[in-house]
Amino acid sequence: MHFSTIAAAALAPLVAARLDKPVIKPPFPGGGLDSLSQGLLDNLKPTQSTNDDWGSGYLPEDCKNIAKGNKLNPFDVSAFNIHYSDCPDVWIFCRHKDSPFSKTDMIDIFGRLPVEMRSYIRHIIAVPGPKSAGSSGDNISMKGNIGITVYVHESAHSLDSHAFDPKYGAPFSNSKVWLDNYNQDSAVPDDYAQSSQQENLAQQTVIALYDKVVPGGVGSIQPNWKAIFHQYATVQGYIAKGAVVPGGTCTHRLANSKPVPKSDSAKFRRGLGPAPNVALSSQVTEIEPIPMGKEIVYTQFDDAGRAIGKEVVQLPTA
Ligand SMILES: *[C@@H]1O[C@H](CO)[C@@H](O)[C@H](O)[C@H]1NC(C)=O
Repeated sequence: MHFSTIAAAALAPLVAARLDKPVIKPPFPGGGLDSLSQGLLDNLKPTQSTNDDWGSGYLPEDCKNIAKGNKLNPFDVSAFNIHYSDCPDVWIFCRHKDSPFSKTDMIDIFGRLPVEMRSYIRHIIAVPGPKSAGSSGDNISMKGNIGITVYVHESAHSLDSHAFDPKYGAPFSNSKVWLDNYNQDSAVPDDYAQSSQQENLAQQTVIALYDKVVPGGVGSIQPNWKAIFHQYATVQGYIAKGAVVPGGTCTHRLANSKPVPKSDSAKFRRGLGPAPNVALSSQVTEIEPIPMGKEIVYTQFDDAGRAIGKEVVQLPTA
């Protein structure tokens, strides 16, 4: 009795973690941040790239885990390397055959993000399902047809853990600097941002990027930008240089997850050729990874990009 009372008290604040500031008025067009997509697409150029497919027998371990967590057959998922011209190391992405996203779409949209922002992402895996996305460690999984703002939002969760000076503590969204600046503002960007400081910082990173790259900045789409200014300006001021500004080259990357056979059967494995080499080059410094969680939480969106629900997918345990 005594113990369960303590446990309940300790858990309660987590359940009721909604932020205390209202959604900005007027709201962003449509109520979500999808309204920022066109400005971002118009002003962020795709990075030149080539790509090559993995042989059919292997997947990066993270892709296989996320596929299995979603009860999808790993044999319906394929992996490919993307060589962007601004990084000596490839990104390895995975795509389920029924994802509405083509390989070309994935390469194009991700390649528009500043290389410093891309550097903190390990794998992206696209699977079929209702429009939703989630971040798992430093991997991103997306279902259905997701826009560029969601790529930025999910990448921002990794930036929150890695791309701010560690002296403030990680994630940065729990730091005193962040909370002090939040407290100087009168609003948050939307309902999604209101759900936690982690989601808020991720939404503010979308706005911070928009403000940097779109002529006229946030003021061109949000007349009441002053109500959220300290928050997105804090992202712009404190985040690793280049994370919200295009240009430059990559200097650090996360090690790729190891290649594993798609099949769990030993018989199948015997016929496999050599596994692809996924080692990082000596030209980049390795970023400390985040440990694998037990689950991946997909946030579902409506057509305007408003968060409308959550789906929790359990990841297989080793
Ligand atoms: C995703 O990325 C991180 C790297 O930070 C890794 O540690 C983690 O185990 C990965 N996999 C999954 C399925 O989350």
